[in-house]
Formats: sequence, structure tokens, C-alpha cells
Amino acid sequence: MTPTRTRTEESANLLTDNPALYEARFPDPDRLAGRWAEDCLRRHGAGPRVLDMGCGTGRDAAHLHSAGRTVTGADLSEAMLAHARAHHPGPVYVRADLHGFDLRDPGGAAFDAVVCLDSSLLYCHTNDQLDGFLASCRHALAPGGLLVAEMRNGAYFLGRTDLLDAPTVNAFTWQGTAYRSTTTLAVDRTAQLLRRTRVWTSDDGSPPVEQRSAWRLLFPQELRHLLATHGFEVLELHDGPGPRTEPLWREGDLPGHTTDADRLHVVARRTSSH
Ligand SMILES: C[S@@+](CC[C@H](N)C(=O)[O-])C[C@H]1O[C@@H](n2cnc3c(N)ncnc32)[C@H](O)[C@@H]1O
Repeated sequence: MTPTRTRTEESANLLTDNPALYEARFPDPDRLAGRWAEDCLRRHGAGPRVLDMGCGTGRDAAHLHSAGRTVTGADLSEAMLAHARAHHPGPVYVRADLHGFDLRDPGGAAFDAVVCLDSSLLYCHTNDQLDGFLASCRHALAPGGLLVAEMRNGAYFLGRTDLLDAPTVNAFTWQGTAYRSTTTLAVDRTAQLLRRTRVWTSDDGSPPVEQRSAWRLLFPQELRHLLATHGFEVLELHDGPGPRTEPLWREGDLPGHTTDADRLHVVARRTSSH
């Protein structure tokens, strides 16, 4: 039997290491996530300077750039940043850690908005990391600046096991190679983490790769409290419609008022006094 290579580092991620594969696995040809973020920024009158934290392949940052904004995309993964610079030009791309960063826009000014999409915020696993992220956002933002984030909803897992009961299998072909991933999710109640084990196989003869990752299980009221503690006023907190909800968000849709389904969307404003 072929041995499975294990990535022990929590952040190691086949998709993060292979940005083109990431875009193939999670296609967003209509730039729904970028359009949703732009809609939030417009509805709340955000200024032009935007920081995309955990920008990944850069496709959302580039969409915001094409909408006329001055965008900085930041990520910890050099592979993601290289891909973003090559394939989604326009924004400035820099390496930074969500857990603590000190960033200004290319002109040296504070940002008008920080966006953090597709659960990037949940790579803050511990309370200290969450505090570090929110303190850094506050520092990076001008007074009145916005934080727009979209992520899994920890509350969804209260009383529901549908995502935990059985592994999910996904198969797709990219550049002539057939890939298959088997994903198992488990809740670590002590650490308040959703732990993911994913085994990749492909028909190119390479051995299977097992990767482990985790997201913080963040609850809506906990997020509300954290934001208030760090000097943010919550303007919206809801489970959809959004770019990864069922049904999907469409132009003109307004935010909902419940936080029950599996995605959480937040828009918060940095207060001037704290
Ligand atoms: C699920 S992807 C989302 C990417 C992008 N926001 C999107 O919506 O397509 C999460 C991203 O967070 C990045 N990331 C993980 N931990 C990080 C950290 N501590 N600091 C900065 N980026 C991090 C990963 O490299 C990856 O690009």
C-alpha cells in the first residue's frame, strides 16, 4: 500500500501550496465574493483604501481593485502571494500574519476597510490570536473604517451533525490530472476548533497526501463581544444571503437578521473612541 504523507503543520495546506488548484477546486468565475464585499463597502459608504487580509489567490482583491479601490492584499503563504501577483495584478501584495500585523496603504495612510473572506479570520485559533487580529485591524483602520468578514458559523454546529457524520468526497480534474479528496470534520470542544483531515489522491502516480487544518468555532454573540471589546460597532451580523450561502447572494439582496445557518457575515465600524 502506498504510504500517506502527513502534513503536520496546522497551516500546511495542499490548496494553499497550490493556488491554481485552489481556484480550480473553488471556482468563483462571477467573482461573487468580491462583488458581495464591494456591495457591503458601498452600502456603508467606505472610502477607497482596502486591505484584504488572508487574500489567498488575490481574485477578490483584484475584483475590488477593478471596482476602483486601492487594494492591498496580505497573506502568510508565499505561494498564494506569488500567484496573486502573477494572475490577479492591480493590488499590492504583502506577506503578513492575521494574528498580528502593522500595515498601511501604499500611500502611508490608514485603510478605509479591512475585508477577510472565506473563513480566513478563523485561522485565528486562540483568543490571543483573535485579540491580535482585531487590535491590528483597529490600528490599520482610519476612524469610521469598516471590517467586512465572511466565515463559517460556529453556532451551526450546535445540535447539528450533518457536516460531521460522514467524510465528504470531492473529485475533479485539473490540467489533465484527476484529483479526489476525502474530507473528515471533527469538533474539538476544548479548543473550540473544527478540525479537518483531508486525504488527497490523484491519478498521476503520486502518493496520497494527508493534510490537517482547523478553524476556530466562533459564535455570533462571542464575535459581537470581541468586536465591542476592540472598539467596533456591529452594523450587520447575519447568516445570509452571502457569497457561499444557499441560496446565493444576488445583487440588490439585503442582509438577513438571523445567525443560524452555516455561514456568518459581519460588517463592523471602527469607532473613534475606545
Ligand atoms: C480559505 S483561504 C481564503 C482565501 C481568500 N480570502 C478567498 O476567499 O479566496 C484562507 C487563506 O488564509 C491564509 N492564511 C492562513 N493562516 C494565515 C495567517 N495566520 N495569516 C495570514 N494568512 C493566513 C491562507 O494562506 C489562505 O490563503
